[in-house]
Formats: sequence, structure tokens, C-alpha cells
Amino acid sequence: MKRLAILTSGGDCSGMNAVIRSAARTAIANDVEMIGYRKGYAGLLKNDYITLDSKTVSGVLQRGGTFLQSARSQEFRTDEGRKLALDNLLKAKVEGLIVIGGDGSLNGALALDRMGFPVIGIPASIDNDIPYTDMALGVDTALNNIIYAVDCIKDTANSHDRAFIVEVMGRNSGYLASISAIATGAEFAIVPEVEFDLSAMCHQLRQRYDEGRTNALIIMAEGAGQAQEIANSIKDCAGFETRVTVLGHYQRGGAPTVFDRLLGSRYGRKSVELLLNGTKGVMVGLSANSLTTTLLEMVANGGQKKLNDDLLRMADILGI
Ligand code: F6P
Repeated sequence: MKRLAILTSGGDCSGMNAVIRSAARTAIANDVEMIGYRKGYAGLLKNDYITLDSKTVSGVLQRGGTFLQSARSQEFRTDEGRKLALDNLLKAKVEGLIVIGGDGSLNGALALDRMGFPVIGIPASIDNDIPYTDMALGVDTALNNIIYAVDCIKDTANSHDRAFIVEVMGRNSGYLASISAIATGAEFAIVPEVEFDLSAMCHQLRQRYDEGRTNALIIMAEGAGQAQEIANSIKDCAGFETRVTVLGHYQRGGAPTVFDRLLGSRYGRKSVELLLNGTKGVMVGLSANSLTTTLLEMVANGGQKKLNDDLLRMADILGI
């Protein structure tokens, strides 16, 4: 192979730059040129790319986001868009493509694979909802962002006898909510996957208040309901004055943690090695700290990754 390409697609996350840097430098070490499409599949459709030499990717490892930029391309979801993408790859003499992104982006990678083009997928989404990998890129950094914010919130909650509902990202997934609840010592995690009992929660909060505790913390996934409505109910039943904080896109940015820098570097190197060895149509993942490969077809049919029941139970027990 003489020329490979890489792109970042869908919602960005910290650690994407580590993958791009690692993939480019692994390619260069093997005398292969690496190009990077700007703005994901949208850039591929416009032939908008840059050459990623060693200097282009220097100084990016510690930066959040993606310096290639990202987008959610509607045009690429159409048959015409996908045909144009394939034509552009062939015209640019690209022999393999690395796609970094979440479930929608990996589905796009599968579409190119089905058209016969060599593709490798890399799971990147702070939601950690992609099957066949313990960790997607960006999750660890997002969790660290969350615990920093929540620790600050707990200080002010304590000073005022307040309950806080902190809304974290996760449209369909309670991963960030459940793990950050354990890591911040929250009393409750509200997640889309598990029905929650408002009156039981109010009862327990009332008990906390009567025991003279000075704060209560509830971490809620954005897809699990209306935070303000729950806050109003708590105010009426539990004694604590209640506030809502929505962490929003703050969670997705910032310097990647060591974990995400290392994971991104491992994913990037592996994806190039796979293409050079003739492997295609797979997603690189992590299992028990070893890198794995799973057919993109299986990833697409694998559904949303399930929350770990044991960790959910632990969140419940530790929150008492
Ligand atoms: O899928 C990742 C994610 O960060 C979700 O948690 C969140 O709901 C969504 O992206 C936000 O998307 P956008 O940046 O397009 O508003």
C-alpha cells in the first residue's frame, strides 16, 4: 500500500488527535503516505483533505477535539453520497480508510466495506455505548471532566443544605451517569436503561435530610427524563432545596487523560498495521486491556452495549 486516509466523524471526543497522530506516524514508518479528510465524511465527499506528515501531527496529542474537525453528514447517508465517496477515494488513490467515530460513523464505514473498500473502524464516543469494546475513545476524559465539576458542585451543595441534580450526556446510555455516580459518591444515578422510582427516591432523600446530612447528589443521564421536573418533585417532598446543573458539551472537550492518549495511540497504530497486513472491515476494540478486532457487520448488529448490572448494583449500595 502507498496511500491511506483517516477521518473523524460524528460527535468529537478527546483522544481523536492521538489516533490521527499515531496512525500517521505508523504509516510514515512503513513508507506509506497518510492523508486526513476534513470534517469527516463531508470532507470525503468534497475531496477536502490534507497530507499528514510527521510535522502536521506534532503538538496535537494533548489537545481535545479533533484538528481534522468532524461533522454528521446527511449526504453520506444516501446511496449517491456513498458512491461519490468511493469514487473520490479511488480517484485520490487511497487504498485503505480509517474511520474514527460512534455508531453512525461505524455504520458508514460498514457501507464502504460492503462496497469492497478496505476500511477499519475505531470506536469513539463519550457515551461508551458501542458494543465489542470495553472502552471507546474519549470516555475516560469525559468521566474525569464530570468528576471535577461534580466535586466542585458538592462543595457548594454542602454549604447550603442543597440537593443537586447533575445532568450528564448520554441520549440512550447511562454509562457516564452510572460510573460518575460511583466515582463522585452520588446518592442516585438515573439512567435511561432502568426505570426509576421517584417516590422511593424522595423518601430516601427525606431520611437523609432528617438525619442532618448537608447535601444530596443525583446524577442523571440526559436521555433519562426531565431534570427540572424531578428537581421540583424533590423540593416538594424531601426538605432539601434543589438545583439542576447541566454539564453539556463541557464533558466532550479538554486535554485527553493518559488513558485516552494511550488508547488513541494504540488504536491508531493497530488500525494501520491491520490495513497493511490486508485485514479490513473490522473495528478495533479493547478487551481486558488487549486490542481486539470485530467485524463491522457484527458491531452494526450488536445493538447498544449493555450497562454492567454489577456496577449498577454497586452504585445503589454505595449511595445509601
Ligand atoms: O453521542 C455523543 C454525544 O455526546 C451524546 O452524549 C450527546 O447526546 C450528543 O453527542 C450531542 O450531540 P451534538 O454535539 O450534535 O449536540
